[in-house]
This record gives sequence, structure tokens and C-alpha cells, in this order.
Amino acid sequence: MTTHKLLLLPGDGIGPEVMGEVRRAIDWMNAQGLTSFEVEEGLVGGAAYDAHGQSISEDDMARAMAADAVLFGAVGGPKWDDVPYDVRPEAGLLRLRKDMELFANLRPAICFGALAEASSLKKELVDGLDILIVRELTGGVYFGEPKEITDLPNGQKRAVDTQVYETYEIERIAAVAFDLARTRDNRVCSMEKRNVMKSGVLWNEVVTEVHKRDYQDVELSHMLADAGGMQLVRAPKQFDVIVTDNLFGDMLSDVAAMLTGSLGMLPSASLGAPDGNGKRRSLYEPVHGSAPDIAGQGIANPIAMLSSLAMCLRYSFTMGDVADRLERAITTVLDQGLRTGDIMQDGMTKVSTEQMGDAVVKAMGEG
Ligand code: NAD
Ligand code: IPM
Ligand code: MN
Repeated sequence: MTTHKLLLLPGDGIGPEVMGEVRRAIDWMNAQGLTSFEVEEGLVGGAAYDAHGQSISEDDMARAMAADAVLFGAVGGPKWDDVPYDVRPEAGLLRLRKDMELFANLRPAICFGALAEASSLKKELVDGLDILIVRELTGGVYFGEPKEITDLPNGQKRAVDTQVYETYEIERIAAVAFDLARTRDNRVCSMEKRNVMKSGVLWNEVVTEVHKRDYQDVELSHMLADAGGMQLVRAPKQFDVIVTDNLFGDMLSDVAAMLTGSLGMLPSASLGAPDGNGKRRSLYEPVHGSAPDIAGQGIANPIAMLSSLAMCLRYSFTMGDVADRLERAITTVLDQGLRTGDIMQDGMTKVSTEQMGDAVVKAMGEG
């Protein structure tokens, strides 16, 4: 079996706690001969800042570029509220995305049957929900220049962020969304705000053009992103694949997360373009953050992180069968009634991060 190199970047807050459960799952899969991963760990976010004054060191950046895949926990927290903007914890994640050219962020929101009642929406609205948000990840207002705060002569300040998209950036993310739709229910809804933003006008035009040129078999619809947010909570099951820009994708995926019961459930894959050999850079991370409010208590839900590992197995290593097994194990423990605090329901068994990870690995062993 080929040995693959994984770089784990646990980060801050609950990041290391949920990554611990991924480590446990990898060790078990390696021991069973299901995988052959060589695992290294690095520092990112506040942890990296504390160690060397940067949100990721050049050395760890180089290891991320060289790894077959990166697994990322979460970064940030009140401890680093006052550090300089350029080295704040979140900058480490943004640098990884930009330098690794991870333009396609896949955020599936799947509502497990056992959790349909844990959603803040009525059970019938979310039961069976399976949507995929395809978020553009290396452009838009996150990276556009200028990005600055300047002093005005009248003593006030002026803050500028710049939303920029070029045709090729929209073309490639649209193609990812259409390709994925073909493996699902074959429907894409593109969201922008063409009514107020030039980048929205271009987004709409380019998505329409890519569809007309290469993907006429896929059903395409368009929605203004604000209305899209409303539709996501009104009738989420109307969607299959949603393709949208960096900022709208960030917000809409947090909304989608709550449809599934908890932010602690949503995984994501951030992918680059395939090279000549079909290999692509990739980073897998939960959608949630470092959850400072519950960090250090051992109660975080590790399922988003474990599901991110499943996405890694599927997208970076074509180990779909092992990914299926891990996802089945997650379904099994939820069906058994095990719940971390964020998804706790009456009559269920409350477990810690470690107990949940343990149960998932045990269920993997049983099939
Ligand atoms: P958050 O996602 O960290 O937490 C939001 C809420 O969801 C909290 O109440 C938290 O307890 C809960 N939650 C999140 N993940 C959970 C889990 N696995 N199990 C149980 N409950 C969970 O968002 P926030 O509080 O807005 O941000 C905190 C910090 O995290 C900030 O510094 C932010 O910049 C950072 N952040 C990082 C990432 C990332 O590293 N990818 C993502 C989002 C936010
Ligand atoms: C996410 C996070 C990040 C983002 C932050 C931590 C930079 O919220 O991955 O959803 O805004 O993209
Ligand atoms: Mn976010």
C-alpha cells in the first residue's frame, strides 16, 4: 500500500481536542491496514503565534505545501484579540488557503435522521436534508486590494475592503459545482447580489456562460444571496448544490450548519486544481471555529472533524470505501443515542469528545 503524508494542524481552542479524535481514528485505520498514513503535526493560529510570533511558520507552510493532504482543526480565541492584524490566528488559515491555491471549498450540510429533532427548524423541513455549498475560497473581499484603514484629515477613519473577481475564478468554481452536481441531484443554484454589486453581475454572467457551454444537462437557477439565506431556512430541501462567493459562502454555510443540528457537525474540503497527474493540494477542516466558550472542557463535538477526515479519504486518496465506513460509524453512534452537549436531546446519552471519538472508532471496527 502506498504511504501518504498527512500534516495535522490542530490549532487553538477545541481544535486540538477534536483533532485528537481524528488522530485516534487514523491510528486505528493504520493498525487495521486500511490505510498507510505517515502523520506529522504542526502549529497554526494562536499556537503558532505563541511559539514564533507568526500565525504559521515558514517551515510548517512548506510542510503543508509538500503534504499529500492537510487536516486543520480551528484557530482563534480571545487570548489573541490584541495581536497585530497581520499575525492574528485567522491569518494562518487564510495564508494556507491562498498559498496552496485552495479555491474550491466544499461544505456539505447533511441532516442525520437521528438529529432531525435537534435542528432549530421543524423536523419535516430538515429530515433527509443533503445540500452541498460550494464556496469560492481564494478570491472576493477576503483577499481583494486595497484592504486598509486610513486616517482622514477630519480626524475620522476610512476602512476599505475590496471585492474582486476575475472571469477565470468564477469559471473554475462554477465547473466544480456543475461537476459535483452531476454526481448528486444534478441541480445548481448560483447566489450573488447582482442587484448591487458589479462582481455579482460578472458572477451571474460567467456561471450562465459556463453552464451554456459545458453543462446544459445540469439544472441551473440563480438567486440573490439575501433571498438565498431566507430560502435556506424557509425550505432548505429545495437546494442540491449552491455555488457562491467567498463571503456569502462563509455566512450561508454557518446557516446551513444549524439546519443539521449544530456547527459541530459540518465538515469541509478545500481543494486546489488538479496537476498533470490528477493530484491536487487539499486541506480538510470543520466549518466551526475554536469555540472558546467550551474549549478545555473535553465536551466539543468531534463529528465535524471526523467527517472532514472522511472527506479527505474520499477526495484526496480515492479511499471511498474507508470513508463510507467512517461515515457509517458516525451514523451508528448517533442512532445509538450518543450525543455531545451541542446536539443533546431528551432521553439520549451525553458523552464527552473522547467518548464520542472512541465510540466512532469502535463502530468502525464493527463494520
Ligand atoms: P465558533 O464556531 O468557534 O463557535 C460558535 C458556537 O458554536 C459556540 O457556541 C461554540 O461553542 C459552538 N461550537 C462550535 N463548534 C462546536 C463543536 N465542535 N462542538 C460543540 N459546539 C461547537 O465561532 P465563533 O465563536 O464565532 O468564533 C470563535 C473563534 O474561532 C474566532 O476567533 C473565530 O475567528 C474563529 N473561527 C475559526 C474558524 C476556523 O479556524 N476554521 C472558523 C470559524 C471561526
Ligand atoms: C471559516 C471561518 C474563516 C473564514 C475564518 C476563521 C478566517 O469563518 O472557515 O468559515 O471566514 O473563512
Ligand atoms: Mn465561517
